[in-house]
Amino acid sequence: TDGMNAQDLAKILHRPAAEIVKKLFMLGVMVNQNQSLEKDTIEILAADYGIEAKEKVQEDITDLDRFFDVDNEDESHLVSRPPVVTVMGHVDHGKTTLLDNIRHSHITAQEAGGITQAIGAYQVKYNDQVITFLDTPGHAAFSEMRARGANITDITVLVVAADDGVMPQTIEAINHAKAAKTPIIVAVNKVDKPGANPDHVTEQLTEYGLIPEDWGGDTIFVKISAKFGKNIDELLDMILLQAEVMELKANPNRRAVGSVVEARLDQGRGPVATLLVQQGTLHVGDPIVVGNTFGRVRTMTNENGRRIKEATPSTPVEITGLNAVPEAGDRFAVFEDEKTARAAGEERAKRAQEEERARTSHVTLDNLFATM
Ligand code: GTP
Ligand code: MG
Repeated sequence: TDGMNAQDLAKILHRPAAEIVKKLFMLGVMVNQNQSLEKDTIEILAADYGIEAKEKVQEDITDLDRFFDVDNEDESHLVSRPPVVTVMGHVDHGKTTLLDNIRHSHITAQEAGGITQAIGAYQVKYNDQVITFLDTPGHAAFSEMRARGANITDITVLVVAADDGVMPQTIEAINHAKAAKTPIIVAVNKVDKPGANPDHVTEQLTEYGLIPEDWGGDTIFVKISAKFGKNIDELLDMILLQAEVMELKANPNRRAVGSVVEARLDQGRGPVATLLVQQGTLHVGDPIVVGNTFGRVRTMTNENGRRIKEATPSTPVEITGLNAVPEAGDRFAVFEDEKTARAAGEERAKRAQEEERARTSHVTLDNLFATM
């Protein structure tokens, strides 16, 4: 309970944070939502909610996290799955160009202003092995998207331009990867440029604990030119090598769970969400809860726009059929039937609304305290 505050308690008890703050106020404890609480205070408050809270946890259909409990998965159900690799780095350092080269396509040409504004998700086949790539934007404004990307990835490829060196979003990306505990492979890019100084980049990165093997460390560095396709195969080899060490597995024979990579409202098709399947297999027709939305998977397409009927672990797919647009980073889970999915989705949406209302009303309570 170290550092637990009213907001944490509100989440556990499924109560608006404002209600918790109010109860604390009645108990003579004046705190805002973010101040940590004494152990005694937490105990008194929990007792107040005790029985009710316990009952709720047991039959809480709205809890999506319980589906992600893979530690209890029987070993014999697990099979190898492709690695999920997130490409991160400072703006313009060449992330999308690298993925372009890998896919032999031209994503940058279609992007507004050539700046990546959302995470893209793609699968490639290299040496008969599948790799799932997530592109992320390097612009300073998209910090949260990078954090989400880091959280659903197995491996981070950190792209650093050799003519520019370590920049603010390079450091931010390192921190996200470290927080998410994913191994980092460094791709020193643009080595073709006249001003390129790859050794300087390596030197800079040692300050952040990223030390290449020939300098006595254990971080993989690959010098590449994304634009001219230099050493890209070597980078892919290193990704597969790292993935092999990690022995990534999933059970494809269960109801699917995963995360939202991106979501938007399409004029013709309604809510459209790019999902990354993390466990199980997702099928057309599956009843699903995605964040605070629900529905049935109406259509499913792969990244090339081809209609598919099912998606196995580590596969990114675009689906339609949701009642509203979920948020990037939301988790999804397939439910046993549509009725339960609807009930869970509606309840989750209601709670999110209540929390939002509590958050806003709390601001006024805070202001009140400030003037007292
Ligand atoms: P954001 O998505 O905005 O963060 O940028 P990005 O990291 O995806 O960079 P992008 O791939 O859009 O490349 C930015 C610019 O650098 C483009 O003009 C690319 O052509 C150029 N570029 C990328 N890689 C290389 C390279 O290896 N060599 C050279 N010379 N130019 C490169
Ligand atoms: Mg980009």
